[in-house]
Amino acid sequence: MSKIQAVIAGISGYVPEYIMTNDEISALVDTSDDWILSRIGIKERRILKRDEGEGVTYLAGKAVQDLMRKTRFNPLEIEAVIFATSTPDYVMPNAAALTAYKNGMTNAFCFDLSAACSGFIYALEVATSFISSGKYRKVLVLAGDILSAITNYTDRNTCPIFGDGCGAALLEATSENVGVIDSIMRSDGNSLASLHQWGGGSVFPASHETVDKNMHTIWQDGKVVFKQAVSQMSDTCLELMERNHLSKDDVKWVVPHQANLRIIDAVASRMGVSSDKIMVNIQKYGNTSAGTIPICLWDYESQLKKGDNIILTAFGAGFTWGATYLKWGYDFCTRQDL
Ligand SMILES: CC(C)(COP(=O)(O)OP(=O)(O)OC[C@H]1O[C@@H](n2cnc3c(N)ncnc32)[C@H](O)[C@@H]1OP(=O)(O)O)[C@@H](O)C(=O)NCCC(=O)NCCS
Repeated sequence: MSKIQAVIAGISGYVPEYIMTNDEISALVDTSDDWILSRIGIKERRILKRDEGEGVTYLAGKAVQDLMRKTRFNPLEIEAVIFATSTPDYVMPNAAALTAYKNGMTNAFCFDLSAACSGFIYALEVATSFISSGKYRKVLVLAGDILSAITNYTDRNTCPIFGDGCGAALLEATSENVGVIDSIMRSDGNSLASLHQWGGGSVFPASHETVDKNMHTIWQDGKVVFKQAVSQMSDTCLELMERNHLSKDDVKWVVPHQANLRIIDAVASRMGVSSDKIMVNIQKYGNTSAGTIPICLWDYESQLKKGDNIILTAFGAGFTWGATYLKWGYDFCTRQDL
C-alpha cells in the first residue's frame, strides 16, 4: 500500500480593505515612512475596521468562501478545522468552531492552536499527521490574526510592524508524491521576557490596572527577536535541506514568515537561495503573525507548479519556530476558470 501524503489542495486568504500607511503610523508615533521602509520593509498594512467586520473569524470566513469557490470543496466533508491564531474572537469558544459553524463545516471537530507567528507551520504539522494516520482525509487549516487588536499604537518599536490578515489551506489525502514531505518543529519557553502579551491570561486577568499599564498589547525586545529569528529559521531550513538532500538549486521557493525584510534577506543569504525564489509581500501587509505564510502562498499561487519544492519557515513568540518541506500539489493554470 502506498504511503498517504497530506497535500495542500487549495489556498486562499483575505486581508481587510482599510490600508494603514506609514504616514498614518508617523502621525501616531515618532517615526517616518523612510525609517519603516528601510529598517522593516513595510510600506502599508491592512487593518480591520468595525464598519467592515469583526473578529478574526470574519477574515477567516472570507478566505474560506474564496477557497470553496476555487476548489469546490463540500464543507460537509471537512473532518477537522484547525485555526492557528493569537487573536481569536473570544477567549472561548474557539475561533475554529465559530468559523466552521458560520461556513457550513458542521461535521468537523474544531480547535485553535496557539503558536504565535509559527502557527501556520505548526497547524500544518498537526493536519499532516491527522491525514497520514489514515483516519482523516480532509482538514482545513486556518491561520491569521487581528494584530491591530493587541498592538500598542503609542510604541514605535512595535506598532509599525503589525497588520491584520488570514489564510486558509485545504489539506487532503493523496497517494501521489506531492504534499508535505518533512518538517522540523521547535520551541523554547525560556523567552517570555523577550516577546509577550502579559494581560488577559490567568496570571494577569483583565483589570483596570492591566488596561492602564497597556498589558493587553504585544511587547518585544526587537534586537533579541531579530537575532533569534535569523539564526533559528536559517538553521532549521539548512538542516531540513541537508537531510532531504536538497541543494539550493532544488529549492523552487522559500516562504519565510514576513516579520522584517532584513530578517528575510539574512535567512535567504544563509540558505544560499537567490532572492527571486523568496516569497515576499511584507511591503503590502506587514506582519500578520500566523497569517503571513498562507497569505504569501495565496499571493504567489499563480506562479506555483505541481511538484515545486517549497520550504516554509517561521519564528514567533514562545519562542516557536520551524521549517516545512513540501511539494506543491497542483498547477494553477488548470484552475484558471475558478
Ligand atoms: C523592531 C525592529 C524593527 C527595530 O529595528 P532596529 O533597526 O533593530 O532598531 P533598534 O532596535 O536597533 O533601534 C535603533 C533605534 O531606532 C529606534 N526606533 C525603533 N523603532 C523606531 C521607529 N519605528 N522609528 C524610528 N526609530 C525607531 C530605537 O528607539 C533606537 O533608537 P535609540 O538608538 O535612540 O535607542 C527590529 O529589531 C525587528 O524587526 N525585530 C524583530 C521584530 C519581529 O519580527 N517581531 C515579531 C515577532 S516574529
